[in-house]
Amino acid sequence: MTAHLRSLAALASWALLHATGAIAATPLPQYSHDKTLGVGTCANSLCHGAIETWKDSNVLQNEYITWSRSDKHARAYRVLFNDKSKEIVKKLALPEPAYKTELCLDCHTHNPKPAQRGERYQMSDGIACEACHGPAERWVVSHVGPEATHAQNVERGLYLTNDDVARARLCLSCHMGTPEKLVTHKLMAAGHPRMSFELDTFTHIGPHHFQIDADWIRRKGSWDGVRAWAVGQAVAAQNQLALLLGPRGRDGLFPELVLFDCHSCHHPMGDKRNTAARLGAGPGFVRLNDSSLLMLRQIARRVVPAEADAFARQIALMHKAVASGSDALVHAKTVEQLIADMLPKISTRRFSGDDVKAILHGLIDDGIAGQYTDYAGAEQAVMAVQSVAEFMGRQKLLRTRPVQPAMKRLLASVAYDEKFQPLVFERALRDLKSSVQAESNQ
Ligand code: HEC
Ligand code: HEC
Ligand code: HEC
Ligand code: HEC
Repeated sequence: MTAHLRSLAALASWALLHATGAIAATPLPQYSHDKTLGVGTCANSLCHGAIETWKDSNVLQNEYITWSRSDKHARAYRVLFNDKSKEIVKKLALPEPAYKTELCLDCHTHNPKPAQRGERYQMSDGIACEACHGPAERWVVSHVGPEATHAQNVERGLYLTNDDVARARLCLSCHMGTPEKLVTHKLMAAGHPRMSFELDTFTHIGPHHFQIDADWIRRKGSWDGVRAWAVGQAVAAQNQLALLLGPRGRDGLFPELVLFDCHSCHHPMGDKRNTAARLGAGPGFVRLNDSSLLMLRQIARRVVPAEADAFARQIALMHKAVASGSDALVHAKTVEQLIADMLPKISTRRFSGDDVKAILHGLIDDGIAGQYTDYAGAEQAVMAVQSVAEFMGRQKLLRTRPVQPAMKRLLASVAYDEKFQPLVFERALRDLKSSVQAESNQ
């Protein structure tokens, strides 16, 4: 290698390590080598099990109560005993009940290897503290010390839930799946619900057991819902492409169907949609689920404006290759690489008022232009519109209250995938557009 190439390589590897590499290398809590101590260790009333929040503490201290009373993760294990689970197991002819099947346990509870289970670990606790915050073996004692810093805790195995990229990887590992654990099309056909996830929206619908305030920001850095949305889309797209490119990408003669748009196959034959037209491809082909890629196209226009067109062209090439069958995986690999290059720029972006306005208008205009005729794209676009509009409301760039009725109609238009009508969705977007125009502050 020439000196020039060497320094370029060093720079590239530094950038990667700094921005995502180090984080990508951190194992998810389930695969950490540290021991999980069990929720009993966190739940003491002097620790995180207080009934009331504490005034003089950095954190709320009643996290356990919030989680155990109203967080669905606390009940995720119990789901495996319900009738739907029994039905799934029966249809798949699995040898054991769901609550003993590794595949189900991997997502419906915290399921580390037996060697990493401490004495108080209980599978029945479900997705408890350490499933997200990382096994506490090495940080449980030190994290309560008066001079413990976040960085030190992280060094001792605390998972970086405050970092958008690390958090997106964590949530998506269960809410979308990875090569290690996946809800396949067969599982869905056996009755498992379809999955959809958006990081900012899902962070808000879960009950909050934490507070993002000045103290949190001082200890842990910035929190930005729009950035979280953008990072979540990039990581989701990466995940999907990695699945497509990996051994999970095929199932028998066919590709793994769960990576494709469900409704490109599942709709009545009389209902002629030809939705592939938006991709510049002819009728009758199975489209990749490109909902995250559609969102990323909006994000690219702001974060890497000079490269946004090339990115969009590469996505189009990939779709066409999927339809025609030549070099589809090569094109998918190129898209994957472009996203990997973009991710550090997204995760360090400070999204400005102009950024979010442009993203909101881009989403609305692309929707009106028929870019989100697939349900999955429309669903992601609506979650994005909502997150971005809320952000604009907080920044006083938009009066959100008068926009509410149009927003409600938009939400209603994607409430049921089976009843989705692109034209109703587009009409709702037009309404929203006029109402946003009337209520924005220039
Ligand atoms: C890749 C992770 C993953 C795997 C593997 C997985 N699930 Fe799920 N499951 C989820 C997520 C996430 C949800 C919640 C979806 C939502 O609400 O968005 C869910 C929801 C469900 C539900 C509906 C929830 C309810 O309240 O009834 C059932 C039933 C279910 N899963 C059963 C199973 C069974 C049985 C297996 C094993 C055969 C399994 N799951 C494997 C992640 C997974
Ligand atoms: C589904 C994932 C998940 C589970 C389960 C979970 N947390 Fe969290 N927790 C988060 C996220 C995300 C944050 C916000 C980001 C951050 O502060 O790291 C957070 C924040 C916190 C904070 C605030 C930290 C601060 O610096 O202000 C505490 C304390 C906490 N969690 C404790 C718990 C306890 C105790 C449990 C179990 C009873 C638990 N968490 C279960 C994801 C989770
Ligand atoms: C270990 C797997 C796992 C991880 C990690 C995980 N989840 Fe979940 N999550 C689930 C399962 C399984 C369910 C469904 C539980 C049920 O239906 O009772 C669920 C349910 C939810 C729900 C309720 C959805 C609804 O339909 O009401 C939200 C919100 C949610 N998760 C957000 C998150 C976020 C945000 C993160 C990351 C900080 C995260 N989850 C991490 C497995 C996981
Ligand atoms: C390439 C086409 C294709 C795609 C894409 C596809 N499916 Fe299917 N799906 C099928 C076929 C074929 C069957 C089997 C139908 C049968 O048995 O009659 C099926 C069966 C099902 C069933 C069971 C229906 C029944 O009658 O028993 C469900 C539920 C299902 N799919 C959900 C989904 C979801 C959710 C997605 C997207 C994540 C999806 N499918 C994507 C082709 C597809």
